[in-house]
Amino acid sequence: MQKLVSLCKRRGFVFPSSEIYGGLRSAYDYGPLGVELKRNIMNEWWRVMVHEREDVVGLDSSIIMSPRVWEASGHVSGFSDPLVDCLVCRARFRADKAPRVENGEAVKFRFEGKTLNETAERDYVCPECGSPRLSEERQFNLMFKTNLGSLQSDDSTVYLRPETAQGMFVNFLNVQQTYRLKLPFGIAQQGKSFRNEITVEHFIFRSCEFEQMEMEFFCEPGTDDHWLDYWKEERLNWYLKLGAKPDRVRLRAHEGEELAHYAKACYDVEYRYPWGWDELEGIANRTDYDLRKHQEHSGKKLTYFDPQKINPETGKNGYRFLPYVIEPAAGATRTALMFLLDAYEEEPPSEARKDGRTVLRLHPRLSPIKVAVFPLVKKDEWLVGKSREIVRDFWNSSINAFYDEKDAIGRRYARQDEAGTPFCITVDTQTREDDTVTIRYRDDMRQDRIKVEEAVEIVRKKVNES
Ligand code: GAP
Repeated sequence: MQKLVSLCKRRGFVFPSSEIYGGLRSAYDYGPLGVELKRNIMNEWWRVMVHEREDVVGLDSSIIMSPRVWEASGHVSGFSDPLVDCLVCRARFRADKAPRVENGEAVKFRFEGKTLNETAERDYVCPECGSPRLSEERQFNLMFKTNLGSLQSDDSTVYLRPETAQGMFVNFLNVQQTYRLKLPFGIAQQGKSFRNEITVEHFIFRSCEFEQMEMEFFCEPGTDDHWLDYWKEERLNWYLKLGAKPDRVRLRAHEGEELAHYAKACYDVEYRYPWGWDELEGIANRTDYDLRKHQEHSGKKLTYFDPQKINPETGKNGYRFLPYVIEPAAGATRTALMFLLDAYEEEPPSEARKDGRTVLRLHPRLSPIKVAVFPLVKKDEWLVGKSREIVRDFWNSSINAFYDEKDAIGRRYARQDEAGTPFCITVDTQTREDDTVTIRYRDDMRQDRIKVEEAVEIVRKKVNES
């Protein structure tokens, strides 16, 4: 993880926020490569979840919504974590994430195997010093509050959304009616969400400002189990198709107390991070909980009417009911971390690279730069002009190409390997004679000679077919 964090900094994927002021805990900035990676992930999600389906449409709702939305959804009263202070080292931490104690021993995390010399009153200890001497648990609400308008009063309190989901519930009828949608159908949204997380951890895995990709799939009650099964497989496969290593992703069902009060069933897509299996995405059967709550609180009917369906109570045609919702909820920033970790590889020295290399084996669709174009020597104006011309050919075909003339060719390849660029093209003196260039493949470092006029098509094909 440390190596990846330093690569992210060195190559311009992710920087700590406000770094010149010492950084802000829990916030990050995405640099030139990071912003491309994040956008590619979000575009791939949008393509598969919205563009390439007849039954899902998009939405972009506001980050600040009526505070009544969050009262209805249960976030004002219930979206909190149990907060505890250590009476010895003063660390403040989440009780549910602290190292557990069993038979007088702290199991989990770095206290594994350590025997306590004090009796623990709770079933956990301080994650910093291992002490069992702790304050009472307090509930700490995770929503950021601010004020709307110039007056700071309770009446003007609004919240930064902690999830994008509620925007889709409150717009359920707007979208359904204007688009004349029939069940089952989904509404998808991507965007920033904010949570005042007590423990921010593992780089961009858990931060206070992050980006979500959520879809609410509305269906008839009774079909919900089928759709949950369907979506959990779809979502698992999305990660696999984008190259995630199969032995590092899995689905895990929530059980017992872990299941949120509004959910009938839930699966997590989990990834095996350097610290162990942990959440990547949640796929929940939220029943009609959210629509019912918004209907109660707003006093507006949020039911769906199916004229063809027989009402089970009256036996007549025409049935009005609240749909059930299956929700695949993913984090774009967390997914970026996952793909970076998954793609990171250090190769030992070989024939092709005497000192070994660090390479990001990102799926070409996710790679920030698809192709880098180099003149073999920068002093040759013709080579420089030809290289820039090739770069423009790629841009004209909406392929993100990058021109680089700095340093020796080996250094340029090495930089692109670390950026995850799948293809490099080098223009040399032979190009002047036969209009061919060298294409070098990131994964096996193989080099081929290709015609300049075929370069765009070759790269496009390789990006799309993989
Ligand atoms: N609407 C349901 C919902 O928001 P969640 O499990 O709380 O469910 C969904 O969040 C996803 O959003 C998570 O699986 C994770 O990928 C991402 N996420 C949640 N909190 C995050 C945080 N503090 N930092 C980064 N990503 C986060």
